[in-house]
Amino acid sequence: MHGFSYKNGSLFCEDVDLSTLAAEHGTPLYVYSAGTIIDHYSRLDAAMNGVDHEVAYAVKANSNLSVLRLLATHGAGFDIVSGGELFRVIKAGGDPAHCTFAGVGKTRDEIVYALEQGIYSFNVESEEELRYLNEVAGELGMIAPAAVRVNPNVDAHTHKYISTGKSENKFGVDFTAIADLYDRASRDLPNIKLRGLQMHIGSQLTTIAPFIEAVEKVIPLVTSLKEKHGIEFWSIGGGIGIIYKHSLESGSINWWERQPTEERPLTIERYGKELVPRLKDLGLKILLEPGRYIVGNAGVLLTKCLYEKKGSAKTFKIVDAGMNDLIRPALYEGHHEIVPLLEPASGERAKVDVVGPICESGDFFCQDRELPNFNPGDHVALMSAGAYGFVMASNYNSRPLPAEILVEGATATVVRKRQTLDDLIEGEL
Ligand code: LLP
Repeated sequence: MHGFSYKNGSLFCEDVDLSTLAAEHGTPLYVYSAGTIIDHYSRLDAAMNGVDHEVAYAVKANSNLSVLRLLATHGAGFDIVSGGELFRVIKAGGDPAHCTFAGVGKTRDEIVYALEQGIYSFNVESEEELRYLNEVAGELGMIAPAAVRVNPNVDAHTHKYISTGKSENKFGVDFTAIADLYDRASRDLPNIKLRGLQMHIGSQLTTIAPFIEAVEKVIPLVTSLKEKHGIEFWSIGGGIGIIYKHSLESGSINWWERQPTEERPLTIERYGKELVPRLKDLGLKILLEPGRYIVGNAGVLLTKCLYEKKGSAKTFKIVDAGMNDLIRPALYEGHHEIVPLLEPASGERAKVDVVGPICESGDFFCQDRELPNFNPGDHVALMSAGAYGFVMASNYNSRPLPAEILVEGATATVVRKRQTLDDLIEGEL
């Protein structure tokens, strides 16, 4: 089984030739491999064997209805951060009773909607929010199931914009304040059912150590919360990192069989092997909230080279995708491999910047990177763009959002149409 690989000189997604998709549907174009998504979901599920657990896919990573539907049919729960995400999950056939609702700024409308839909738990980020949830639930004559997010003050060693588990981050409640908060809540907040505890220390973690540190630190807390307040679940969050940097080896890319490198020793099997023994005897249901791990390497963004511009200092390959389509390089210095759709005939490489058409110097996909040659008219794939790609795309510079395609074997389905110029002004008066 394979996700993205060259076959007879063309880059394929499963059994579909990406050049054909680019020709048929135009670019920029997001393409996802259903097989990869399900493979990753199943591997994580299997790695957690031995613990009562549920994978609650973090919808924010890729919220296309067809991706959600695919995961729902394979038994996933969902971690949502807005009323909009809950709406999507329900539209895709997901079960609200398997949804957790995270985020520091839930509005009244969102709380009411989630209560009415009967979600599994609100993952609450402050005492103020817990009190407000109690108030709103009371007005509706309902009981709100809740878990508080603990901030364990553990360094995730990731980019500062996606690190969340340190005291200086806006997320969660201080580790030292949690026990008292649960005591106060069970005494004073009659419309709250304390159902669990939640944590999430950051995203794109590439070593196991911070996960172990956080779990070990929180075990005594969660054990005493279970004894005292009868909580039933512990969500250990998401954050499992993926491999973004990968070289073309002997002309072929096989995202399924890639082994971790020395600097990124985290595999999903290692994750399970380290965490399962620590979690299995707690008598709690363990929730996982992976986003990137499930969809990151399952998606690519196809783009066409428009021009080559040779400046005095640099050579720029100008492509038709921009930072509005994939913002990760501009926002997090994210690295995405750039691979020609037609396998390069020679091993020749040149140092180039690949840039988009947006009027900002931050609009680049790579700088001074040695890449195989490609020319105006050629297509390339920005790899590992399945997570935080389309979902973070915008209409900046009045550019219509790209189309999205889901590949299953030899079948490619348009799962979101490319926006038209009319779509751009829809709703404007
Ligand atoms: N749970 C919570 C509470 C979260 O805040 C997040 C991600 C996740 C789960 C899923 O994390 P994952 O397994 O995907 O690492 N846009 C950034 C990533 C932002 C992550 C925000 N929170 C990027 O492109 O790198």
